[in-house]
Amino acid sequence: MGIQCTVYPSHDDASRAVADCISTILREKPTCVLGLATGSTPLEVYAELVRRHHDTGLDFAGATTFNLDEYVGLSPGHPQSYAHYMNEHLFGQVNVDRGRTHLPNTRADDLGQSAEQYEMLVRSAGGVDLQLLGIGTNGHIGFNEPGTAEDSVTRVVDLAASTIRSNSRFFRDESDVPRRAITMGISTILRARKIVLLATGESKADAVADAVTGPVTTGNPASFLQNHADVHFVLDAAAAALLP
Ligand code: F6R
Repeated sequence: MGIQCTVYPSHDDASRAVADCISTILREKPTCVLGLATGSTPLEVYAELVRRHHDTGLDFAGATTFNLDEYVGLSPGHPQSYAHYMNEHLFGQVNVDRGRTHLPNTRADDLGQSAEQYEMLVRSAGGVDLQLLGIGTNGHIGFNEPGTAEDSVTRVVDLAASTIRSNSRFFRDESDVPRRAITMGISTILRARKIVLLATGESKADAVADAVTGPVTTGNPASFLQNHADVHFVLDAAAAALLP
């Protein structure tokens, strides 16, 4: 147990290392189940995977994907929806079978039931082989904000004020940021067989240091990753700056 950390000089180097992990599992297990994240951090990972698809034939045809989360209140066509993000940055540019790509359905009338169905869908696909994560400056993973219990499952959540503020950079105005999302829970994430968390930039240094060396606490949801047997933090020097 414990979190293995590898530090790279730059965001690009760290992104290539994560793309290597994803490429490896796609080659070793073409029918793998990938857990995917959005946000600014993995953009270069997806760009690198797209490059490898075009240049070396990296094959997504047999893969199944489950995204961690989706905002409530944005249609899949909305430029800031995570469905749109995935289409733009990965799904629309590689040979993944769109019928095997999944994001939480936040347009259902019964959002609670939709979240439960997503949890079951991940299980019935055989669980996630490789889960890609980012980390919030407050230690959130997915939209599991501080205070989230380790046994939490996929559900509807309220976003923390700090997350709304942070994500407002993608919207015209802070008031346009959705207040709720459906997210995989901590226990959903911890069931993945392998977890890779990518964190870059100095704004993540505190959250990373607390997650890796601090106590396992709901105050920093990423600290629950210490309880997983195969978790790897891929960091740039700035995000690793406060590690011992
Ligand atoms: C996104 C997600 C979030 C982000 C986190 C970091 O699917 O689940 O936990 O990984 O908010 O976001 P960025 O990468 O934009 O700093």
